[in-house]
Amino acid sequence: MDIELSDDVENISWGELARVIELAPLGKRDIVKLETAFRNSEMRCFAYHDEKLIGAGRGISDGALRAAIYDVVVLPQYQGKGIGTMIMEYLLERANAEIIMLFANPGKEPFYSRLGFRKMKTAMAIVDNPELLRAKGMIE
Ligand SMILES: CC(C)(COP(=O)(O)OP(=O)(O)OC[C@H]1O[C@@H](n2cnc3c(N)ncnc32)[C@H](O)[C@@H]1OP(=O)(O)O)[C@@H](O)C(=O)NCCC(=O)NCCS
Repeated sequence: MDIELSDDVENISWGELARVIELAPLGKRDIVKLETAFRNSEMRCFAYHDEKLIGAGRGISDGALRAAIYDVVVLPQYQGKGIGTMIMEYLLERANAEIIMLFANPGKEPFYSRLGFRKMKTAMAIVDNPELLRAKGMIE
């Protein structure tokens, strides 16, 4: 299967990206905030099959020391074919950092372990909706 990866934001339909994220499923995104987040992210990856958006991911980096990866998704019918790995490798190659962090969705830890990620023992976060993240099993 020919998959094309790109970081070009100019031809993105943000509504289509929100749909891919929702279907993956990774939750509903406000389209205006989604566009801001992807445009302001130094690392971006959009995956296309036959010119159709089928996956994405993004990350932020200080260019030297620290980076973080977010919103890694592949449409369900394309999962398990190595596309998520391709998106992650594309982002990791551009991270330029000594430590790269992410939140794994519960159950997705093996996917990231395979890419070299280790569980962190002291990661902490301020979140705007702790009840939701607690229900998802992401915070104590
Ligand atoms: C997490 C996610 C992005 C992974 O994408 P993906 O395209 O399915 O990832 P890959 O195909 O590269 O790898 C998935 C599994 O398929 C296997 N696989 C990869 N290529 C394969 C192939 N050609 N044939 C068969 N199996 C394959 C891998 O071994 C991998 O197994 P693992 O999960 O135990 O590591 C995707 O499942 C997703 O969008 N999930 C919903 C949203 C989500 O949870 N995102 C993560 C946020 S933290």
